Amino acid sequence: MESPSLLRLLLLTVSLCCRPNKASLTLRPSTAQLFYGESLHLSCEEDSAGWTVKRNTTKTTMTECGDTWGKLRASTCVISLTLLKDSGVYWCESREGATSNTVNITITGGDVILQSPVLPVMEGAAVTLNCTTRTPSNLPADFYKDGSFIRTESTRQMTIHHVSKSDEGLYHCNISGKGQSPPSRLAVAALPTAKAPPITKAPLATKAPSAATPPPTDSAPLLSPVRLLCHLVVFCPYFVSTLLLVSLWRQRSAGPEPPVSMATVEPNQADEGLDDKYDDVIANVTTEHDF
Ligand SMILES: *[C@@H]1O[C@H](CO)[C@@H](O)[C@H](O)[C@H]1NC(C)=O
Ligand SMILES: *[C@@H]1O[C@H](CO)[C@@H](O)[C@H](O)[C@H]1NC(C)=O
Ligand SMILES: *[C@@H]1O[C@H](CO)[C@@H](O)[C@H](O)[C@H]1NC(C)=O
Repeated sequence: MESPSLLRLLLLTVSLCCRPNKASLTLRPSTAQLFYGESLHLSCEEDSAGWTVKRNTTKTTMTECGDTWGKLRASTCVISLTLLKDSGVYWCESREGATSNTVNITITGGDVILQSPVLPVMEGAAVTLNCTTRTPSNLPADFYKDGSFIRTESTRQMTIHHVSKSDEGLYHCNISGKGQSPPSRLAVAALPTAKAPPITKAPLATKAPSAATPPPTDSAPLLSPVRLLCHLVVFCPYFVSTLLLVSLWRQRSAGPEPPVSMATVEPNQADEGLDDKYDDVIANVTTEHDF
């Protein structure tokens, strides 16, 4: 009889502590600059439901996809024909007001765009900036950082092989006869430096396949431990339900069938759904111990 109340406590703890609320905004195409008239798909890669895409433009602030702009298709916000006034800051926001990373998007009526990563690039990684024209062109492109000329590339692509913090800045490009692109900021995320001695390359490489290590795709370095914690917390319901399953199995080893339903508890449901599920589980457990 002590068992159910212990389980109840466990489940309560889980439902209180395991509320994953982290999303990141992803774009397709994944570039911060677009030609007027192109389509743009925005989605919130999320750990739980209830996130919407919002934006600030020069005209309006805090508007939501589907209000006066964009159409929600499945869970993706689609702007099928971008206009100059769609330029602005975009982010994902949960019902509780939590926000994701923000992305600046520039729609241009000009002939040249600079395609650069929308998310911060990890220090040491390679990054390629692509100077593209609306109409095909074989002309070389000039690249600029913070207004200063860097170099001319006949391929119209400039690669920085080992990005460092000093590469951070506002980039644009220029193609003779076509014009110049709007500027876009390249952000560089520092490698997470633990309190421990500096990370060498070898342990990093061996750690790479581990599922517990999140890929350094987004966000500032400070967020990495938080993200790791989030991942651990997400797996916590699985862990607890496995424990419950095993303990019930042992108690009912003589019984006819194991309570398989418990294994279906998933961490990425809406909170209400989660609570319902846990209520069911509690009911199951209680009735099973009554006979
Ligand atoms: C959007 O605009 C609102 C109101 O001006 C401001 O409070 C908010 O910080 C802006 N958000 C972003 C991500 O720029
Ligand atoms: C940018 O392109 C224009 C137009 O062809 C060209 O005249 C100019 O020299 C370029 N600007 C710079 C700073 O290279
Ligand atoms: C985004 O745009 C705002 C204002 O338009 C600017 O202050 C901010 O630095 C930009 N951020 C990035 C990452 O480009």
